[in-house]
Amino acid sequence: MNKLKTFLMQKNDAKILDVGTGNGNFIRIIASLTNEFSEIIGIDLIEGAVEGCKKNFEDDRINFFTMDAMEMEFDDDSFDLVCLSNSLHHLEDVKKIMIEMERVLKPGGALVFCEMMSNNLNKRQKSHLLMHHYAAEVDRHRGRNHGLTFTNKRILEILQTESTLMIKDAWDLTYPRREDNSEEEIEWLFETIDRVKEGIIEPKKKGYFEKEADKVKKHIKKYGFDSATQLIVILK
Ligand SMILES: C[S@@+](CC[C@H](N)C(=O)[O-])C[C@H]1O[C@@H](n2cnc3c(N)ncnc32)[C@H](O)[C@@H]1O
Repeated sequence: MNKLKTFLMQKNDAKILDVGTGNGNFIRIIASLTNEFSEIIGIDLIEGAVEGCKKNFEDDRINFFTMDAMEMEFDDDSFDLVCLSNSLHHLEDVKKIMIEMERVLKPGGALVFCEMMSNNLNKRQKSHLLMHHYAAEVDRHRGRNHGLTFTNKRILEILQTESTLMIKDAWDLTYPRREDNSEEEIEWLFETIDRVKEGIIEPKKKGYFEKEADKVKKHIKKYGFDSATQLIVILK
């Protein structure tokens, strides 16, 4: 986190765009690390997510819009930083979004990627990965674009291949190791898995997804849970 903070503090009055903002997680992280921004805009395809963000953020400098990242309604050269967090494995067309991200980036600005990685995880972090991949499989079953997460090597390969900019820096973002999980926390994780299960639409698939959910719960019960390591990549 310290390295991300140092990076963000390099520019005063930065105008920042967060693409595929979801519930605004990455904006929350940015705003917790720096106050030196003039504006942060979060965009997402899903109107419900954007409406939720509008209710949950009170800073006037932070705004949200429903917008497709493949056709952004911003002028060229609009932002100092353009971010994409934990969305790479959701994208239908990485190249198209990369072209747009580069178009709205000011000359001299930076693209910031933050992506959960699928390798080098301990058993507690593996719980996060399994839970995430379970949700991705249910999403695909519902016709949504949600692939498996990538290894750190693959993330770098994708970014290098799809962007015309150069990778200037990359580092692991880890969260402080927590003590053993409380029973309440495990219960909350199980409830989250059960909520994901509610998305199953084909009755004949229910049995399969029940079994997969039980496997994930068993892993969490045995080893506990920690957030998976994220890879931060800066392109300029
Ligand atoms: C897993 S969420 C990531 C949320 C958040 N950035 C985070 O770090 O937690 C991925 C988001 O990307 C959004 N998304 C996928 N394709 C998109 C597109 N073409 N334009 C805008 N948002 C998109 C999805 O709607 C989803 O909310």
